[in-house]
Amino acid sequence: MLAETLYSQVELEEILKFIEFDKLVKGFEYPDRGVNTKPVRFPQLDGLPERTVFVKKIFGMKKDRAIIPHGHSNMASAHLVLKGEMHLRHYEKIRQEEKFLTIKPTIDKIAKPGESSSISDERDNVHWFVANTETAFTFDVIVLDLNGRSYDIHNLDIYEQKTLNDGTLRVPILDVQTALNKYGKHSHH
Ligand SMILES: [Fe+2]
Repeated sequence: MLAETLYSQVELEEILKFIEFDKLVKGFEYPDRGVNTKPVRFPQLDGLPERTVFVKKIFGMKKDRAIIPHGHSNMASAHLVLKGEMHLRHYEKIRQEEKFLTIKPTIDKIAKPGESSSISDERDNVHWFVANTETAFTFDVIVLDLNGRSYDIHNLDIYEQKTLNDGTLRVPILDVQTALNKYGKHSHH
């Protein structure tokens, strides 16, 4: 994806300066469950369009909080780790039913500052981030409503997965509040 190619060629320090990360995190409110976001505005520079079709945000969370496991329709996004460390998992969306997604694991790694990942309808459609450090931040560039259709987000009850004969996982879809209660704050048992 374009954004990932870009991130691999630009120093993290320059991106942090460009988006004024220090200002964005000042007074950042960390929720007890899940994450909070702040919009990012690019500085007025010659050659940059005043408005872009991209949604740009930072996502911040405290340790053990998560961007809960979810899949997407009709959107693409790129995620750059700005600060901290996250357990990052991605899955390929194989099939969508009204109350289930069938998925297949593709990425399972610890993501560190400067590392990025992306989702699209074509590839790695489902993702899940859990913060491993006191705080963790990503910079997200999101394109909504692709294919002329409204985007949608499907929160997944990933612990209730059923492994099918072909090795894929059939996972129930949850409403956002139930999903946030269950997955927004990871407890170590
Ligand atoms: Fe997402």
